[in-house]
Amino acid sequence: MSRKRVLVVGGTGYLGQHLLQGFAKSKGKPFDLAFTHHSTNPHQTLLNPISPSTPFHVDLQSGEGLTTISNTFGQPDVIVNCAAMSVPRACEMDPAAAFATNVPTSLVKWMSGFNASAILIHLSTDQAD
Ligand SMILES: NC(=O)c1ccc[n+]([C@@H]2O[C@H](COP(=O)([O-])OP(=O)(O)OC[C@H]3O[C@@H](n4cnc5c(N)ncnc54)[C@H](OP(=O)(O)O)[C@@H]3O)[C@@H](O)[C@H]2O)c1
Repeated sequence: MSRKRVLVVGGTGYLGQHLLQGFAKSKGKPFDLAFTHHSTNPHQTLLNPISPSTPFHVDLQSGEGLTTISNTFGQPDVIVNCAAMSVPRACEMDPAAAFATNVPTSLVKWMSGFNASAILIHLSTDQAD
């Protein structure tokens, strides 16, 4: 059986970093791990504890960078989407960008081209206003 591939989208965020560190501690590392970043390049302090893992630059608003993941890392078996425009004020200032990021159509479209099924875990919030 081939090794599972796990992709954390938004791996540079608060939640994403904790998730990556948790995955990196898994006994025997039974899967290959990759993650995405957007505006910031991943810092060495993030990369060191989760090595080996592969960072990819992705913009969910355009979908830029997603095809590179399937072409080089391979189609993931599990995708955990921790990416978001998470600051409510920024969302209010630019609702179109907030919608394009937080309702990740580009990610779903990309997955719909996979030749095998994959699991998408999408994080949300309980913040109501
Ligand atoms: N933090 C919590 O305690 C908590 C609790 C419950 C639920 N959640 C949910 O979990 C999710 C993540 O929250 P967070 O606090 O971890 O947010 P965060 O720290 O603001 O991280 C957001 C992540 O999204 C990436 N991102 C932003 N815009 C992007 C774009 N256009 N394309 C691709 N990636 C983009 C950021 O990349 P760069 O940093 O590289 O720009 C970063 O990795 C949200 O849906 C939030 O509602 C969070």
